[in-house]
Amino acid sequence: MKLTSLWCSLLLASVVSGAAFAQAPIVIKFSHVVANDTPKGKAAERFKELAEKNTKGRVKVELYPNSTLYKDKEELEALQLGAVQMLAPSLAKFGPLGVKEFEVFDLPYIFPFKDTLHQVTEGPIGKALLKKLEPKGITGLAFWDNGFKIMSANKPLRTPADFKGLKMRIQSSKVLDAEMRALGANPQVLAFSEVYQALQTGVVDGTENPPSNMYTQKMHEVQKHVTVSNHGYLGYAVIVNKKFWDSLPADIRTELESAMKNATIYANAIADQENGRALDAIRKAGKTTIYELTPAEKNEWRKALLPVQTEMEGRIGKDLIASIRKLSASSGEK
Ligand code: LMR
Repeated sequence: MKLTSLWCSLLLASVVSGAAFAQAPIVIKFSHVVANDTPKGKAAERFKELAEKNTKGRVKVELYPNSTLYKDKEELEALQLGAVQMLAPSLAKFGPLGVKEFEVFDLPYIFPFKDTLHQVTEGPIGKALLKKLEPKGITGLAFWDNGFKIMSANKPLRTPADFKGLKMRIQSSKVLDAEMRALGANPQVLAFSEVYQALQTGVVDGTENPPSNMYTQKMHEVQKHVTVSNHGYLGYAVIVNKKFWDSLPADIRTELESAMKNATIYANAIADQENGRALDAIRKAGKTTIYELTPAEKNEWRKALLPVQTEMEGRIGKDLIASIRKLSASSGEK
């Protein structure tokens, strides 16, 4: 071998081994629509930290919060196309994918407390729900809590009569549509990123969300009244592109599953506290009157909203609703 070709071979060998040594990390783009300083935002940060640590840098998680990469509807399409690998959409956003059963979480008063909710999300019902995503090219990894919703508008919302004729922003869920109609309001589906401006300009009159979302999007600055109604729940499913997930080396997947398990424990541990903090912050900001319902008013809300559970049986499945009601009854909740 001539000296020059020997040099060439040596050079090539060193480039190849160098490239193998500095193998590019697997990138997980994780897009979501809320601020970092929320239960979901913080849990996503915790997942990133644990995933990168557990895999010793073989995985890099890129977070895109606050709809910086995609808005609600786009993000689900992007996940299916593989433009992003991970999302945590609210459970109210799976209907348009054709998985209507997820809207069970939106039913008014279906989870009076978090005990039953966790029996669902951590048990066989939750598992079966996530399984329904697979034919859509999606793998469901976990459920993350946010919390119970409050209602807001520029007028006091004490009884269902106060909702008459109000344009209320909702997520893309038929159950939430039925909920607002049951209150006499006109529901309007809007992407989360558009809510602040829609409230500010009067495109809609009011909305519902847990306090952490209202506060971090500054909705309270353009809403004079908030009612702590806790009439329904908002939480998330953490999902990945199935093809991407299945193609990961098994050891990496195991580490990521463990990171997700820990991030989920963290998410569910901080959610109530974050929402309590946000409600206090709304109160302190002094722009919004916060109203707690009297027992009699609570009864009026329940009377108006409970029929939505029966009305939606055809869409969601009578058996699914019945099995959740049974769990509530057995844990002493009504
Ligand atoms: C909403 O659109 O109101 C929520 O789903 C936002 C979120 O992800 O918490």
